[in-house]
Amino acid sequence: MAEKVLIIGLGLIGGSLAMNVSKKEGHLVIGLDQDEKTLNMALKQGVIHQAAKDFEEAVKEADICVLATPISVTIEYLHALQKIELDKPLLVTDVSSVKKRVLEAADQWKHPMLSFVGGHPMAGSHKQGYPAAKPHLFENAIYVLTPSVHANGEEANRLKELFSETGARFLTFTTREHDEMTAVISHFPHLIASSLVHQAKGWQDTHPSIEHLAAGGFKDITRIASSNPRLWQDIFFQNRELLLSMLDDWISEMEKVRGFLSEKDSEGTLKYLTDAKHYRDGLPVKERGAIPAFYDLYVDIHDKPGAIYQVIGQLAAADISIKNIEILEIREGITGVLRISFASSEDQVQSKALLEKNSFEVMLQQ
Ligand SMILES: NC(=O)c1ccc[n+]([C@@H]2O[C@H](COP(=O)([O-])OP(=O)(O)OC[C@H]3O[C@@H](n4cnc5c(N)ncnc54)[C@H](O)[C@@H]3O)[C@@H](O)[C@H]2O)c1
Repeated sequence: MAEKVLIIGLGLIGGSLAMNVSKKEGHLVIGLDQDEKTLNMALKQGVIHQAAKDFEEAVKEADICVLATPISVTIEYLHALQKIELDKPLLVTDVSSVKKRVLEAADQWKHPMLSFVGGHPMAGSHKQGYPAAKPHLFENAIYVLTPSVHANGEEANRLKELFSETGARFLTFTTREHDEMTAVISHFPHLIASSLVHQAKGWQDTHPSIEHLAAGGFKDITRIASSNPRLWQDIFFQNRELLLSMLDDWISEMEKVRGFLSEKDSEGTLKYLTDAKHYRDGLPVKERGAIPAFYDLYVDIHDKPGAIYQVIGQLAAADISIKNIEILEIREGITGVLRISFASSEDQVQSKALLEKNSFEVMLQQ
C-alpha cells in the first residue's frame, strides 16, 4: 500500500519537496495550503495527488506529515497535532529555518502515535510561493535533521529515504548547534546586509548616482537583503536571543574599529584587516567531515556576446559536469569573473588545463 505523505504549505520549500516526493514510487502526496489557487495549481500539475481541505482529516489519513509553513504557523500546527486522536503512527517533520521553539513544541508531546524529526533544507531563493518552487532546489544542498526526544535513528532514516530524490545531503545536529551555526552564517549576515542597504539608501538623497556605483561588491554582499521580508521577520524573532547577543558582540567590534580610526591607529587598522584576511583565506574549501564542498575555478571573461557560452561550451564538449556557476562581477565593457564549481578536483584541474589551452585566464581556488 502507498505511503501517504501530507505536505502542509506548498510554497517555495513545500512545493519543491512535493515535486520530488510525488516522483517516488509507492507514495501518495496529499497537499494542504490555505491558498486555494496554490492547491489547485499543484493538483493540476500532478505535484500532489490529492488536495486536502481539513487539517484533522488529512492528518488522520497520513503516515508522514511535512510542515512547510512559516515557523510560527508550524508551531501552531504542532500544538494542534497532539489533540488529534490518531489510529496509526504519524511521523512529523518540518522545514523551519530556526529550530528551538519548534523542537520545544514537539518535545512536549505525550501522544503515543506521534514522532518528530526536525528538518531544514538549506537552500532557498529570494522568491516565494508555489510559482517559485522547483524540483532541483535542493540538489547538493545541506539538509539538516534535528531529531526530537520522540525519535530514534529509524525515523531520520525514513525521512532521508523520503527526500532521496532531492539530491540533498543530510547532516544531523542538535537544535542548539543548528540554531547557533545558522545564526552565525545566515541570520546575522542577513541582518548586516539589510543594514548596509539602509545605509546606502540614506546616502542616496545627497548622492543620486550611488545606485549606479552600487554594482559588483556591494550587490554581492547585500544580495540576501532581497529575500522575503516576512520569512526573515519570522526567522529574526524565532532566533531573537542569539541575534541579540551577536548584535552586542558586533557593536563592541565596531567600537574597536571606530577606536582605530578616531585615534589614527594605522598599524591597528592594518592588523585588524590582515587578521580578517588570514582567517577568511584559511576557511576550508575542501571536504571536511560530512560537509561537502565544491572545487572552484575563476575564469576572466569579457563583456561581449557569447563570452559565457565559449567557456561553458568547451567544458560541455569535454563532457565535464558543472555543479554551479556564478558571475561575480561584470560591468559594461569591463572584465568579469565567472566562478564555476565542480564536484571533484579532477574535473577542476582538467577544466583549468582545457581553458588555459584556449587562452582563458583561469585561477584555481586551492
Ligand atoms: N525561503 C527560504 O529560503 C527557506 C529556506 C529553508 C527553509 N525555509 C523555511 O520554509 C518555511 C516556508 O518558507 P517558504 O519560503 O516556502 O515560504 P512560502 O511563502 O513560499 O510558502 C509558505 C506556504 O505556506 C502556506 N501557508 C501559510 N499559512 C498557512 C496555514 N495556516 N495553513 C496552510 N498553509 C499555509 C502559504 O500559502 C504558502 O503556500 C519557513 O518555515 C522557512 O523558515 C525557507
